[in-house]
Amino acid sequence: MEIMEFLRTRRTYRRFEQRPVAPEILTEAVDAARIASCGANRQTLKYIIVQSPETVAAVQPLVHWAASLPPELGRPKPGEQPVAFIAVLQDERLPGYSDTDTGLAMGSLTAAAWGHGVGSCLMGSIDRPALSKLLGLPEGVKLRYMVALGYPSHESHLVSMKDGDTKYYLDDARDYCVPKRPMEEVLLKTL
Ligand SMILES: Cc1cc2nc3c(=O)[nH]c(=O)nc-3n(C[C@H](O)[C@H](O)[C@H](O)COP(=O)(O)O)c2cc1C
Repeated sequence: MEIMEFLRTRRTYRRFEQRPVAPEILTEAVDAARIASCGANRQTLKYIIVQSPETVAAVQPLVHWAASLPPELGRPKPGEQPVAFIAVLQDERLPGYSDTDTGLAMGSLTAAAWGHGVGSCLMGSIDRPALSKLLGLPEGVKLRYMVALGYPSHESHLVSMKDGDTKYYLDDARDYCVPKRPMEEVLLKTL
């Protein structure tokens, strides 16, 4: 796939086919995050792959979907839920944590997954205490994000933004429509 087409389609996906993602793909996604650029090459992030159906089921009620939509539209129903998660963790025993590093790592992780057709949703709205307990985090390791993963069962389209409204919505086919600001608004100048 041409790189801009890859980036246009590497969107947030929130409904998924109920077939497993191969463990090698999930491991490769973590490997992509592992080698991402980070400030001073400090590498403070760790990961946990959640792929067993029992643990995936236990995670589902602890993540919150699509704040811009009413729950009946944004939350995946049984039969639509992600089939795997990757927990993105900060190892507090290592100095120099940076949110920018986390973003870059998750960008690489989700791109590596999308390279195999595996869609994702970065999730910051999560029950951290309950998930930390479920994941059995070691002392000094803090949960930052969950990444939901699976083969998407819907499409997601970039659409023109109207009146500065950033809210995404569903069209008649229940595909996501994601407004982005136009180039002329974001590219201030070329010097
Ligand atoms: C830091 C971050 C946290 C997010 N947390 C959630 C979340 O908790 N639940 C959710 O459904 N989507 C979450 N998202 C997905 C955003 O809603 C999504 O990226 C945004 O609507 C734009 O859609 P796009 O990724 O297709 O461009 C998060 C995205 C980012 C970058």
